[in-house]
Amino acid sequence: MKKFIGMVGTNSDQSTNRRLLQFIQKHFANQANIDVCEIKNLPAFNKPEDSVVPKEVQNLADKITEADGVIISTPEYNHSIPAILKSAFEWLSYTSQPFIDKPVMITGASYGKLGSSRAQSHLRQILDAPELKARIMPSSEFLLGNSLQAFDENGILKDYKKIEILEEFFNDFVQFVDITNHLVKSNHSRQKKQSFSWENNDN
Ligand SMILES: Cc1cc2nc3c(=O)[nH]c(=O)nc-3n(C[C@H](O)[C@H](O)[C@H](O)COP(=O)(O)O)c2cc1C
Repeated sequence: MKKFIGMVGTNSDQSTNRRLLQFIQKHFANQANIDVCEIKNLPAFNKPEDSVVPKEVQNLADKITEADGVIISTPEYNHSIPAILKSAFEWLSYTSQPFIDKPVMITGASYGKLGSSRAQSHLRQILDAPELKARIMPSSEFLLGNSLQAFDENGILKDYKKIEILEEFFNDFVQFVDITNHLVKSNHSRQKKQSFSWENNDN
């Protein structure tokens, strides 16, 4: 059984992105054990001089390191990801850098029709930074538009076509995780912690 982390990309208590991850957790329970993780308890990134990070950050970093893959669900704020999610990535790039070579699937929910597509594009770009260097599943977007109306009272997605798309997407991700983790192992390409290039005097 695969072990995944579902990362809720917001600190909002009523998040439809959280509901989407909870749906994914239940719907695919026979394929993966998905731990839905919060970032709402993380402080804003403040670049501590001693590089010691808060224990909540280290806990999340450790969970990501141990997982076979990560599913991140992001809202869209002003055509990008929420500041709290960006801050979480800043912390995670400043710790054990658990995203390096980690397979990632991106989903998103928004109140409008577009389902967070612009935020998802930004998220890909951020995860490509050398100190994050995630292995993001290519050519795939799971967009949940009109997310306030998307779930029934039991938290089930109402639109069965959306569920079919999600199933296809999730099956692709399970294969992508196998292929990526095999590639990473066989190439021995999992790199040790990256030093921050901008702190190198040679540049
Ligand atoms: C500050 C703010 C900015 C937003 N900007 C956008 C936006 O640029 N595009 C969009 O489709 N929705 C925007 N929305 C509405 C979001 O679709 C919605 O809040 C969010 O994606 C839903 O995620 P959640 O249910 O997980 O909180 C914005 C909402 C807030 C509060």
